[in-house]
Formats: sequence, structure tokens, C-alpha cells
Amino acid sequence: MAKADTYPVMNGIIQGVESKERWFPGDPLPWTTQICHGITCNIVIDYKRCLKIPEFETKPDDVFIVTYPKSGTTWMQQIVKCIRTKGHPETVDEHLEDIFPWFEAMPQKDMEDRPSPRIYKSHSPYYMAAKGKSEATRCKYIHVIRHPKDVCVSLFHHMKGFWDYEFNGEFPEFVDLFLGGKVESGCWFDFVRTWYECAASKDERVLYVRYEDMKQKPREVIQQVADFLELPIDEAIIDLTIEKSSFAKMQKDNHANMSWRKEEFRANAEPFMRKGTVGDWKNHFSDEEQNKHFNEIFTEKLAGTKVESLYDLN
Ligand code: A3P
Repeated sequence: MAKADTYPVMNGIIQGVESKERWFPGDPLPWTTQICHGITCNIVIDYKRCLKIPEFETKPDDVFIVTYPKSGTTWMQQIVKCIRTKGHPETVDEHLEDIFPWFEAMPQKDMEDRPSPRIYKSHSPYYMAAKGKSEATRCKYIHVIRHPKDVCVSLFHHMKGFWDYEFNGEFPEFVDLFLGGKVESGCWFDFVRTWYECAASKDERVLYVRYEDMKQKPREVIQQVADFLELPIDEAIIDLTIEKSSFAKMQKDNHANMSWRKEEFRANAEPFMRKGTVGDWKNHFSDEEQNKHFNEIFTEKLAGTKVESLYDLN
């Protein structure tokens, strides 16, 4: 069993505590959540199904785009859509959410019945992920990781924007929730550690991608994704993929920009395609003490892993 499989309790939260109310064991939360498998989850998750996900019967050509929320999931989905359509995503008249459904939020049967090759989106730590019952049926994972402070900022705007979270707090309060793992998908530090350990065990079925590399060296990342998915690619397809997965193009692409979810947004919400930049955290982390505390937790939680060297937090 991989080391990452052995997390029974995350962040001190008791596994198996379940609720659809806005609460946390002994500590009310200022947003609507539920506890599933020991971590705080989006209210749309079916927590009873989540407990059974590790037993899901995967196929070797199944792929999970798996991320901590706000790490570039939608962007990676668009890249995969572009590669699959040889640079012409407009030929598939379906939203990204329909092509790559959110695995934890959908009924088991719908997920089972999808035609192969099946690609899903997931926001689970490795120990909660679908794995298949044997080596022969193991699936693949594309894990996208992003600078934790940019994730924190992006998730803050996301939770303020969607009305169903009912979150009305300000940024400093949100940072405390983030550091305490009291936001969607639990503690970022624990989450990324599980995927790091999985990838670091030289598991060839995991592609580990940095959001920042998608920005800085898109050609290389797109080639890696195509090779990993065993899909044909050439320079022309790469050029089209770079263009059609750019922030500017995705902002206007109604199959990629989440405009179909507009009824879920509050009136004053930031758009889903908000800024798409690296380093926006510098415009938000104005509290010196809190910033220092963030850095300390990062070092403490990720000591001895490569993740620590992937990001400069200063
Ligand atoms: P910001 O809120 O910082 O703008 P997810 O899809 O995991 O929810 O991540 C959403 C974040 O990815 C948002 O970040 C969004 O703007 C950004 N994003 C989406 N498409 C992008 C693209 N093509 N290029 C850069 N960032 C993108």
C-alpha cells in the first residue's frame, strides 16, 4: 500500500463525521459545508458515495484531472479538450463540465455508464481517489498544483461569488479558514502532500503539472499531456491548443467560461475566469503576521517533500 493511502485522519478531524449543516466538530463554520471522509466538502457532494469511491471499478484508460479547487482544473480540461479535438474544441458542442464531470458530485451509475475513454474531474486527496481493484485496472491521474497563496486568493473570490456557500467573510478570516483546512477539499498542505507522495513513488500513472508551468512553458506541458494520454499531436495542434486554452480565449468561450452557471453567482460576484495570473496573492496578503504564519505552516507541513522547493512564498 502506498504511503499516501494511509491517512485515516486529516488535520485532526475525525473521520466519518457527517453533516449537511454549516458546522465543524465543536467549531461552527461561516459557510455551508459538510464533512466527508474527515474533510470539509462542497455541499453538492454525495458524502455517502464518496466513502465508497476508492472501490470504484476504474479502467486502465480512465483519467482523472485531480486538483485542489482553484488550481487550474478548468484550464487543464480545456487543454485536454483541445488535444482530443486536434485543436478544434468548437467542434464539440458541450460544456467542459459535461465532458469532464465532477466525479464526487455525480451519481455512481452515471459515472459507471460513461463511454470510454472516460475523463473525470476530481477534487479528492489521493487516499479518497478512485483507484481500481487491481494493478491491471488502475487509472491515470493528471494532478495540477498551484502556488498555495494564489489558490487561497482564488478560492476566497470563488466562495464569495457562489451563493450556495453563504460565505460573507473578509480575506483575513478566510486565510485562517484556509490554514486550518476548514475550506472546500480540506487542508491544501495535506491534500498536495498525498498527491506528491503518490507521484514521488515513481508512479507512471500520475502526471504532475504546475499551473505556473502551464503559463510559462505551455508547449512543453501540452506535449506532456498528449504523451501521457497517448494522443497524437503535432506543432499545429500545439499552436491551436495554446491559443484556444489561453485565458483571453477561454473568457469568451461559452463552453469553457462557466457562463452556463450564472444563476449560481451572486449579483456582485467576480467572473469564474477572474484574473488567471501568477502572484495575485501579493495584492491580498497585507497582514505581515498572517503571511509569516502561512509560510511557517507551509514549511512545517511540507518539509522533506519536493513541493517545498516548487514555490517561493516570499
Ligand atoms: P483566478 O481566480 O486566480 O483568476 P479551477 O478551474 O481549478 O477552479 O481554477 C480557476 C482558476 O484558474 C481561476 O484563477 C481562473 O481564472 C484560472 N484559469 C482558468 N483558465 C485559465 C487560463 N486559461 N489561464 C490562466 N488561468 C486560468
